Amino acid sequence: MPDSDNKLFGLLGHPLRHSLSPHLHRFLLREIQQSGCYHAFEIGEGKLEAAIEGMKTLGFTGFNVTVPYKERIMTQLDEISSEAQRIGAVNTVHIENNRLLGYNTDAAGFTFALQRKNIHLAKRVATVLGAGGAARAVTSVLIQGGVQKIYLHNRTLLRAERLVTQLRDSTGFKKFVIREWSEPAITESSMASTLIVNTTSVGMWPKVQAVPFCFPADAKDVTAVDLVYNPLETRFLRSAISSGAQIVDGLDMFILQGIEAMRIWTGKHFNVNLNQLRAWLVNKIEEYGQN
Ligand code: ATR
Repeated sequence: MPDSDNKLFGLLGHPLRHSLSPHLHRFLLREIQQSGCYHAFEIGEGKLEAAIEGMKTLGFTGFNVTVPYKERIMTQLDEISSEAQRIGAVNTVHIENNRLLGYNTDAAGFTFALQRKNIHLAKRVATVLGAGGAARAVTSVLIQGGVQKIYLHNRTLLRAERLVTQLRDSTGFKKFVIREWSEPAITESSMASTLIVNTTSVGMWPKVQAVPFCFPADAKDVTAVDLVYNPLETRFLRSAISSGAQIVDGLDMFILQGIEAMRIWTGKHFNVNLNQLRAWLVNKIEEYGQN
C-alpha cells in the first residue's frame, strides 16, 4: 500500500494510561483493510492548541478528544455538527482540507449501549454523576429519550450549573436538580431514581478502589451505568450488582463511539462482530490488571 494511504489518527487528553482507544482503532483499521496508525498523546494543560497545530501540519486525518478537553476543543474548530453544538462537547475531529470539523459520537455510543440491553428511558427519573463532556452527551440522550427528571451531582458545582443552563437552552428541558457531590446526597438522589449513570473517571484504572457512592441494600428496580470501561466491572457496578440492580458497563458505549468516529474519518461502514471485539478488548483490559 502506498504511503499516501497510510492515515494518521490520534487521541488527545490526559491521563491516558488506561485508554483502549489505540487497540480499538487498530482493530477497526484492520477490519476495513486501511493502513494507518492511531496513537494516544498525553497532552498537558496549555498544550492543546500546539498539539492540534502539529496534527494539522503532519497531515493527520482525524483525532479523538477526551478528558479534560471535550468542551475546550470547541473554540479551536472551524465547524461543529449541530448535534455536538446541542450537546456542548466534541469528542471527534475530522481534518479535511486543513479545516477542523467537530462531532460528538459519545451520544450515539450511549444510545447504543442502552438499546443493546433493551433499556427504555421514557418517564424515568435519572441521577447523573459528573458534569463534563461525557455527562453532556449522556444528559442529552436522557432528555431525548423522555426522562422525567435529572438529579445532577458534580464535584465542581459551577460546572453543573453551566451544563444545566446550556442544555436547558438547547433542548428546552427544565427538570434538572443540581445537588452536591457527597455520598449522602448521591444516595438520596439514587433512592428517587431508576437510572444512575456515572460519567466521571472515579473508579478508573489504576485507582480502581475509588467509588462515587455505594448502592443501598435493595436497588432491584434500578439500572446502573458506568462509562468507565477499564476495569470493566468497577466498584460502582459491583455495588450495584450486590444490591440487585441491572448494570451496563462502559465497553459497548466505548466501542460504538469509536466505530462512529472511524466512520466519520474514513466514510466506511462497519459490520463488526461485537461479541468478538468485546472479547478482544476484555483481554486487553485484563492485561492492565496484571501490570
Ligand atoms: P469527560 O469528557 O470524560 O466528561 P471531563 O470533561 O474532564 O471528562 O469531566 C470529568 C468529570 O469527572 C467531571 O465531572 C469531573 O468533576 P469536576 O467537574 O469537578 O472536575 C469528574 N471527576 C474527575 N475526577 C473526579 C474525582 N476524583 N471526584 C469527583 N469527580 C471527579
